[in-house]
Amino acid sequence: MQGYQQMIQPLYTKSIHCVTSQRAHPSDTKISVNMLGMITVRLAKVSDAKSLFDWRNDPNIRAASEQTKPLIWEDHIRWLTHTLQSDTQHVFIGEQNGVPIGVVRFSVEHDQALVSLALAPAAQGKGFGKSLLALGIAQIGSMPIRARIRSDNVASRNCFAACGFVETSRDKGFCCYNYIRLTFEEIVPKDDHINALYEALKLRKHAISHINLPSFEDHKEFIKKHPYRSWNFVFAATECIGNFYLNSDNSIGVNLLPGYDHMLPVLLKQILHDYDPLPEIKSKRSAGFVLHVPIGDHERRAQMNANGHMPLQITYTLEKGQV
Ligand SMILES: CC(C)(COP(=O)(O)OP(=O)(O)OC[C@H]1O[C@@H](n2cnc3c(N)ncnc32)[C@H](O)[C@@H]1OP(=O)(O)O)[C@@H](O)C(=O)NCCC(=O)NCCS
Repeated sequence: MQGYQQMIQPLYTKSIHCVTSQRAHPSDTKISVNMLGMITVRLAKVSDAKSLFDWRNDPNIRAASEQTKPLIWEDHIRWLTHTLQSDTQHVFIGEQNGVPIGVVRFSVEHDQALVSLALAPAAQGKGFGKSLLALGIAQIGSMPIRARIRSDNVASRNCFAACGFVETSRDKGFCCYNYIRLTFEEIVPKDDHINALYEALKLRKHAISHINLPSFEDHKEFIKKHPYRSWNFVFAATECIGNFYLNSDNSIGVNLLPGYDHMLPVLLKQILHDYDPLPEIKSKRSAGFVLHVPIGDHERRAQMNANGHMPLQITYTLEKGQV
């Protein structure tokens, strides 16, 4: 890995820049669309045949595919029946409020998965592509993943880049991408880490431990104390997308930079893969990890609920004067 000075500082600044410009951009409407109904994934079923057929035959989707000819129903049913029984094909349907909105498919060969992504025509252009792709990546685990995307398909290339794919080569009008697993870098009390974390704090919309931004000096002291079991920056390819900490009570805090909320399922999957919870201590430490979510972070709460995680408790402040 490159030296931190070269690596984080310019890239962190780049993340912040792209996020800031996104905020003043119409993409804010995408965030509110997502808040109304989170995307979830489930395995495809035979009863999805008609939706998959209609999506695959949509002229835009055909134009983006390797095989551009229209599908014939009988061939499609044969293909789907075989695919659903195959150990090497993993087809996930994305849903919003229970309504199918697209498909993410992994085709495994030589321990490598080739991914393809398509949204229903009505679901395109709303920012769902990266959420669906991230959920698919979280499902497939740690297997290497690659993608082939037509070089003129800017929306698709943006989705893949936003999920940590990097272009490796070009081949006959297609860009070849590889997925780079998230990497973690331990936070230590040195200037570039302190500054980068302070910038991240400024961008945070929700917090649990402090309502107002702490002073830079307080922030520096806090990092020097390093109160966590583990505290890391998170990188998707070379881009810093946020940070997370593990507490010694098995609680986890995740701060993703604005514009990277879709990566939460991938990050949680990787944390659970890379770390084990500390042993349970009755009434002090739970047996498994728990995630702290600020009460006002409705989007993350909806994201966790939609993905089947169970909310445990609400914590209230208690001030002496109030009781
Ligand atoms: C490609 C596809 C998956 C993209 O998903 P999506 O959610 O509709 O993507 P969006 O329209 O929100 O675009 C993604 C990003 O690219 C940007 N973008 C889209 N078209 C763009 C263009 N022509 N120029 C510049 N940026 C563009 C969007 O602004 C968005 O940026 P943001 O995330 O910073 O806001 C989806 O549109 C689709 O299924 N298309 C048909 C099938 C297909 O092409 N599949 C991919 C085959 S590999």
